[in-house]
Amino acid sequence: MRMFQLDPRLQLCADFVRPKFRLADIGTDHAYLPVWLVSKGICPSAIAVDVREGPLERARENVTRYGMEGKIRLSLSSGLTALEPDDADDIVIAGMGGELMADILQQAPWLQDEKKHLILQPMTTAKELRLWLREHGFALLREECVRSEGKIYSVMLAAFCPEQAQKLVGELYPYIGLLTGKTEEEQEYIQKVMQRLQKKLQGCLHRQEEAGAEELRRLLLELGNLAGIETEES
Ligand SMILES: C[S@@+](CC[C@H](N)C(=O)[O-])C[C@H]1O[C@@H](n2cnc3c(N)ncnc32)[C@H](O)[C@@H]1O
Repeated sequence: MRMFQLDPRLQLCADFVRPKFRLADIGTDHAYLPVWLVSKGICPSAIAVDVREGPLERARENVTRYGMEGKIRLSLSSGLTALEPDDADDIVIAGMGGELMADILQQAPWLQDEKKHLILQPMTTAKELRLWLREHGFALLREECVRSEGKIYSVMLAAFCPEQAQKLVGELYPYIGLLTGKTEEEQEYIQKVMQRLQKKLQGCLHRQEEAGAEELRRLLLELGNLAGIETEES
């Protein structure tokens, strides 16, 4: 069976996985990521986890179709609850909300090990995820943006490193993590964050909350400088 190509979002997640390390893909659905990484010989083995039977059945079909039964273990379970600390080195959680990801991570204290890598691609509430990571001693080591099917996504690499996590103090950290606006995709991500903050600013102005409005104006100015755009208030 000819191997498929990953879409750019999953490809960026795959690029963050360390060659020769064991993978766990949490919320695997179709299992494209583990099937691709293992069949390419990048990961020696993988565990594909999903909490729902339908998606896990799709995963099973793909694992069988690509002859990966000996190398990819399927698990019908929630988050990391069915995994032992020694089951995986690189843990991918992609395509879910950031707050759900934080709940999943919270349930696995064994992740407090600098050797474990977390590759996270939140669909929503990335800010809440970044704050949770910092508060719980996980440092962002890398973050990049990618455009996939017309949308912009951020992919983060995090590991337990309280000393480094404490250094992530900039006021933009919750909003854009390690992104700096150095690529078109990063600029577009920053613009999306700005649109949300602009709406909050309008709300503050409407309610005459001057202190809140002032803080948002400052954030918008800093973000605008990174994204190379001027901020406006109307
Ligand atoms: C939108 S799909 C993402 C699939 C794939 N990771 C991707 O990024 O393309 C989200 C999947 O996460 C699963 N899921 C949701 N909560 C979960 C949990 N607590 N533990 C494991 N899987 C979960 C859902 O059943 C669904 O199959």
